Amino acid sequence: MKNRQTRDQALFHNQWNAELYECNHAFVSQLGADLVELLSPQKGERILDLGCGTGHLAHAIASNGAEVIGIDAASTMVEKARSYYPTLHFEVRDATNLQFVEEFDAVFSNAVLHWITAAEQVVAGIWQALKPGGRFVAEFGGKGNVQAIVKALGETIRAAGYPVHLSWYFPSIGEYSSLLEKHKFEVTFTSLFDRPTPLNEGEEGMRNWIEMFAHSLFQEIPAEQQIGIMTKIEDQLRPKLYQDGIWFVDYRRIRVVAVKV
Ligand code: BEZ
Repeated sequence: MKNRQTRDQALFHNQWNAELYECNHAFVSQLGADLVELLSPQKGERILDLGCGTGHLAHAIASNGAEVIGIDAASTMVEKARSYYPTLHFEVRDATNLQFVEEFDAVFSNAVLHWITAAEQVVAGIWQALKPGGRFVAEFGGKGNVQAIVKALGETIRAAGYPVHLSWYFPSIGEYSSLLEKHKFEVTFTSLFDRPTPLNEGEEGMRNWIEMFAHSLFQEIPAEQQIGIMTKIEDQLRPKLYQDGIWFVDYRRIRVVAVKV
């Protein structure tokens, strides 16, 4: 138990550890492959991959002959992307301060925009980055995303006497379409759908997911209480999200295609 405790405590400091992300969460970019089909990148197009992570989807887009710039706020991710794909261009950049002006035929984004509550700033920057007639193709967490996990985290951590500040952005179709229209986009496609996603690490799966994506909630919790709280969260989630030795994440995705008119 002592070893386990030491390991758990250490992992809570691993924000955007690119190695850990690649080992346990590669499914994020694998599931984005059909979003690249929706983007339908064309030879010669200039495309911005907003939140490129370790660069796999930027590579898929570039392999169709498009010129891709991948940006990510995490330097660890950008370093990894550069090491995987040295011929592609990756930059550390903040999505709320893009500063591109009419440079791109398309802006693409997979599994990133739910991290950014300043959604209006992001949309304004994307609009400015696109050439007239350019398209924005994105998928991220939509209304109801990871609902059971959010509930279990909130209830358990609050019951233990600690605050819960989740800053995730999961808009409905109506909310996000209105935001896009306010910024003069024409919304041509939207979809909101469940995507229950298996984690491939057996009994440790949910704990690893929480360590990777929700570790900030544990920052104020003393190390000696973290394991107990995590175990209660798992117990609450088990009937809903654990089947035959496999944990599932109750993802719900919003997809949009919008054109700069
Ligand atoms: C998501 O991909 O939907 C997600 C990832 C981490 C935290 C919350 C949501």
